[in-house]
Amino acid sequence: MELYERIPNNVNLSEDKRLQRALEKWLPDYLDWWREMGPEGFQEKDVWLRTAVSVEPEGWAHFDYVRMPDYRWGIFLKPAERDARVGFGDNCGAPAYQEVPGEFRNPLRRIVVTQADTEPASVEQQRLLGQTCPSLYDLRNLFQVNVEEGRHLWAMVYLLHGYFGRDGRDEADALLERRSGNPDKPRILEAFNQPCDDWLNFFCFTMFTDRDGKYQLSALAESGFEPLARTCQFMLTEEAHHLFVGETGVGRVVRRTAQLMKENRNEDVRQLGGIPFDIIQRYFNYWYSYSLDLFGGEISSNAADFFAAGLKGRYQERKKYTEHLIKEDVFTLPVVEDGRLIERVVPMRNALNEVLRGEYVRDCVRALERWNKYIADEGVDHQLTLPSTRFHRHVGEYAGHFFDVDGSLIAEEEFERRRDEWLPAAEDRAYVRSLMHPVTEPGKIANWIAPPATGIKGKPFEFEYVRL
Ligand SMILES: [Fe+2]
Ligand SMILES: [Fe+2]
Repeated sequence: MELYERIPNNVNLSEDKRLQRALEKWLPDYLDWWREMGPEGFQEKDVWLRTAVSVEPEGWAHFDYVRMPDYRWGIFLKPAERDARVGFGDNCGAPAYQEVPGEFRNPLRRIVVTQADTEPASVEQQRLLGQTCPSLYDLRNLFQVNVEEGRHLWAMVYLLHGYFGRDGRDEADALLERRSGNPDKPRILEAFNQPCDDWLNFFCFTMFTDRDGKYQLSALAESGFEPLARTCQFMLTEEAHHLFVGETGVGRVVRRTAQLMKENRNEDVRQLGGIPFDIIQRYFNYWYSYSLDLFGGEISSNAADFFAAGLKGRYQERKKYTEHLIKEDVFTLPVVEDGRLIERVVPMRNALNEVLRGEYVRDCVRALERWNKYIADEGVDHQLTLPSTRFHRHVGEYAGHFFDVDGSLIAEEEFERRRDEWLPAAEDRAYVRSLMHPVTEPGKIANWIAPPATGIKGKPFEFEYVRL
């Protein structure tokens, strides 16, 4: 079979000899990587998976049993708009760029590579989770996320091969060489080097860290570099399911804990085999703070340059805003100066990372309110929270300073003294791990998590989502 027949696509691969040659060489390396670093122990099993087969809003996906190495990783871009224009910045209204603008070649490549690197990284972080799945439904969702992150890597590699020449091909190779958490060849972003070795981590990761991806992709989906915009627009269709897995997964853990507390008012949830709220809270604090770092520095001349060039917009730039130049506007934010927090006013364009982070924070708060409602519905008196965006940061204005979860500046010693109160300690992780035993009988579920409200694509929860 010809290469272009094996790769579902809408980028005219059958005609594009140069792209064919590049992918021909990359594909075997990708499959080697998948076999080495993809989900361990399940490569030969039939999994009921969604595969992207077109870009039609209705019927873009096909559901069937497939072995993961046979998954048809495709290359899909949202169809081009007629007469597409740059939507913001100094070139607002000019025809969209069909090639990489020369002066932005390096930073744009960096953006594509950084996004691309997260895709295989998350597959690596999650590769052992299948062995402790709480249900077949969850096992299937894990693998769905994994194969689609694989496809997102393809989408980004298409851009590197198609638009960045020789350097692009080298970068595509390097994406298969780095390894999550490996000190000698780590993944680029720190959240993607953190261990994700239990299912509470997985749900927090897909809730908080994948959600950063949604906002980054949304900002790039507005890009005046049209191939990038169209690639990201289609990735977002798949990403919605990943966020659903995270948000409902966390919600089901929270609900189960509340149920156990309600049924046995005087007992410690640990005695009942649930995950106590204080541990869940510390996992939130951890993943939320690492995910906030992914938006970059609060004050950033790169962000300003990218906006000016029409390459990276705001969230829903075209839909939400009427003014796309933002030359005059300013943004006020607290920064640390001489050991205390003061307000600083900066040009809006320099604060666009922080503006995007603000959209993300609002989305997380929305999910949090829903989870707290589950707790209240069970008649349990407890509220989960999100820490201040200054807490436990490693990037930007607040890195190198210490804050409590309310955002007050504190001394390093106090932070270290209270670290285990705020962030998962070794015994928290050990306790959560002690609950992780595989449940693989159709219709059964682990004790520490509630079943989902419905199954996938009209199938019931009891459906045999993975044939073991
Ligand atoms: Fe992705
Ligand atoms: Fe994702």
